Amino acid sequence: MASITIRNLDDSIKERLRLRAAANGRSMEEEVRIILADLGASSLPVAPASSIRQHSGSLSGRRILLIIGGGIAAYKCLDLIRRLRERGAQVRPVLTGAAEEFVTPLAVGALAADKVFTELFSREDEQDVGHIRLSREADLIVVAPATADLMAKMATGLANDLASAVLLATDKPVLVAPAMNPRMWDHPATKRNRATLEKDGVRFVGPNRGEMAESGESGSGRMAEPLEIAAAIEKLLDRSAKPLQGKTIVMTSGPTHEAIDPVRYIANRSSGKQGHAIAAALARFGATVRLVSGPVTIPDPEGVGVIHVESAREMRDAVEQLLPADAAIMVAAVADWRMAEEAGEKIKKKAGEKAPRLQMVENPDILAGVGHSKLRPHLVIGFAAETQDVLANAQRKLDKKGADWIIANDVSHATGVMGGDRNSVRIVTRSGVEEWPDMSKEEVAERLAAKIAAALESVEV
Ligand code: CTP
Repeated sequence: MASITIRNLDDSIKERLRLRAAANGRSMEEEVRIILADLGASSLPVAPASSIRQHSGSLSGRRILLIIGGGIAAYKCLDLIRRLRERGAQVRPVLTGAAEEFVTPLAVGALAADKVFTELFSREDEQDVGHIRLSREADLIVVAPATADLMAKMATGLANDLASAVLLATDKPVLVAPAMNPRMWDHPATKRNRATLEKDGVRFVGPNRGEMAESGESGSGRMAEPLEIAAAIEKLLDRSAKPLQGKTIVMTSGPTHEAIDPVRYIANRSSGKQGHAIAAALARFGATVRLVSGPVTIPDPEGVGVIHVESAREMRDAVEQLLPADAAIMVAAVADWRMAEEAGEKIKKKAGEKAPRLQMVENPDILAGVGHSKLRPHLVIGFAAETQDVLANAQRKLDKKGADWIIANDVSHATGVMGGDRNSVRIVTRSGVEEWPDMSKEEVAERLAAKIAAALESVEV
C-alpha cells in the first residue's frame, strides 16, 4: 500500500483532514487509512456494516433511497453511505447499469447493510419490493452522482431503467448531486434540464469547481463531497429546520357569513381545511402566522394566531390591521355580495305578501386590496375557486387582484374539493403554470409552505 506523509500535505488539505478526523473522533492517520480504503473499496475488504458508529443521530430513522449513477464520482458514494449511516439513516441503494462499472453492488450493499437494487424487471425484486414501493418507502431520494444522462432522463420523464422509473414514480423530495465534465455541465441542454428539474422542485447540491478526473480538465462539474451531501440531506430532512423563521404571513381562511337578518345569513361550502392546513404548515416552518378565519367548525391551527370574524368587511378590516407582512395568502371563500341593508329584526312572513327580494351590494375584494396596497407584501397569493375555465379564470385574476400566484382549484361538486380532504391544484404565475397531482390538503399545505419559503428566501438575495 502506498504511504502518505501527512506532514507533506498541502496546508489546506491538512486542515480539512484535521477537521474531518476530529468530527469522526479519529486520528488523522486513521482518517487517511479510511479514505484510502474507500478509494479502493471495490477490491479491498470493507468494514462490516455493524462496525459503523451511529454518532450523531441527526438522520435517525430517516429512509434514504440512494441512486448511484455511472461516473467516476460513484466511488464517493461509499463514503456517503457511511456518513449517512453514522447519522442514523437507513440507506437503500439503487445502482444504474453504468454505476456498476465504477462500484460493485457487493461493496455498496456491505456498507448500506441492505439489498442493492439494480434491475427494473427483476422477478424477485418486483414481487419483493417493485419500483413504485421503492420510491414510496423513502423519506428522500438522493441521486449521486447524477450524470448528464440521468438528469436528462429525469427532466424528460424517461423510465427505461430502475433508477429513472423510481424517479418518475416518486412523490418524495429528490436531491441531486451532479457530476460530469465541465463542458457537459455548461452545455445548453444540461442547463435546460437543470432549469426543468428545479421547476419540478428537485433540489441540487453542487457541483463544485476543481480538477476533474480527466487529466488537464478543470471547471464546474465535480460532485459535492460526501460531507456536503450529508449536510444538504440533514438540512432537507431536518424536522426542526425553520426556513420561515422571522417572516410574518397574513392569511385568510374559511367562508364568510353575510347576515340577512339577526337569524339568517348567506354562506358557502368552504370548510377552512385547506387554509388552516397551510397556516399550520407555515407555522411549522417557523413563520409568524396571523390568520383571519371566517366561521368554521374545525379547530384553530397549532402555533397560529387566529382572529375570528363573520363577514367580509370584518375580514377586510382585520387583514388591513395586520399589514405590513412578508407574505399574504388569501384562501378564504369570501362572499362576493352582502345585503344592501341588513334587517335589524327577523324578517317575518306576512299572509298574502310575496317572498322578500334580497337587495345585494358587492363586498370589498380583500385580496385585490392587499395586492394593490401601499403596504403590499413581497409575495401575494390568492386562490381561485372555479367550476369552469379554471386556468383562464386564474390567469385573469393574477392581474385583477395584483397577485403573484393564483392557486387554482376546480371546486365543481363532482371534485369533492369543497369540504373534502383532498385537493388537486395548479399554481398559476406570470411565468407559467405548475400542475400538482391530486394529494391531501395537508400535503398541498406542506409543499406550498416549502415553495413559499424558497420564494421568500430569494427575495432577500
Ligand atoms: N377574495 C377576496 N375578497 C373577495 C373575493 C375573493 O379576498 N371579496 C379572494 C379569495 O380569498 C381568493 C381570490 O380572491 O384568494 C379569488 O376568489 P374567487 O372567489 O375565486 O374569485 P372572485 O373574486 O369571487 O371572482 P369570480 O366571481 O370571478 O369567481
